[in-house]
Amino acid sequence: MSTTFQIDTATSRATPTPAPMKRLTIPAIRRRKVDGATAEPIVMLTAYTARQAQLLDAHCDLLLVGDSLGQVIYGLPSSVPVTLDMMAAHGAAVVRGSWHAAVIVDMPFGSYEASPQQAFESAARIMKDTGCAGVKLEGGVAMAETVAFLSARGIPVMGHIGLTPQAVNVLGGYGARGRSDAESAKIIADAQALAQAGAFAIVVEGVVEPLAIAVTHAVPCPVIGIGGSAQCDGQVLVAEDMLGLFERVPRFVKRYADMATLVSEAAAQYAADVRDRSFPTVDQTYQPKR
Ligand code: KIV
Repeated sequence: MSTTFQIDTATSRATPTPAPMKRLTIPAIRRRKVDGATAEPIVMLTAYTARQAQLLDAHCDLLLVGDSLGQVIYGLPSSVPVTLDMMAAHGAAVVRGSWHAAVIVDMPFGSYEASPQQAFESAARIMKDTGCAGVKLEGGVAMAETVAFLSARGIPVMGHIGLTPQAVNVLGGYGARGRSDAESAKIIADAQALAQAGAFAIVVEGVVEPLAIAVTHAVPCPVIGIGGSAQCDGQVLVAEDMLGLFERVPRFVKRYADMATLVSEAAAQYAADVRDRSFPTVDQTYQPKR
């Protein structure tokens, strides 16, 4: 994509240059996979804040307000304690900070599993509070009825199968899934059930590569891999992992920057300036254009 975005400091919006463009829609994302193939892979990253969305938006087809914000933003031990209030607040911030990508918001644990009706109420609240384009939920065959219920009522749903972090207490950890034939067959059946139910796309996380490819071939809708295979219809990563903000990341994450070192060095320099009273009253090193 050749479009660049400039930050309008008056409105704090990321303004596309040269011309405003329409936000990508869910049908447009769904149409990227034709006859089982996606010519242009779908780019998705997580975003949790308005500023992060402004910076990532131009480069992405989809921004995911993932419930991984529990660990990344709130320092929680897993995504299990994440609430609808958290997802609604961060989802709204990301929609405010983006122009181009379709924004998907995760349904948090406990907000959708009890019944399709519970899922509808939670998803409708997320859509109303945030203005997002759709929601994501974890689970395959067990969630197919819910996905059909939501899709039939105007809520685009992205599925999430394979390693499903909200089920960490059942799975016993975050290890790769699909290592046995039985588990592989179950994950393919999960994908097919979600696609049949109307999911517009499916995230497949933490599965062995042949299974990620098999899932991609097994369904007509786009399959977005995370730690699966480059052959999926698209890829997603947690932005903070990709930016190198954490020392420890899953093995499949490629780091494109070393932000942890940059932040630490900047903070150390600031602390040194304050302590030796050389802290400038006017920033002489960085002048943003007004
Ligand atoms: O919560 C999240 O960030 C996710 C992605 C890792 C797919 O679900």
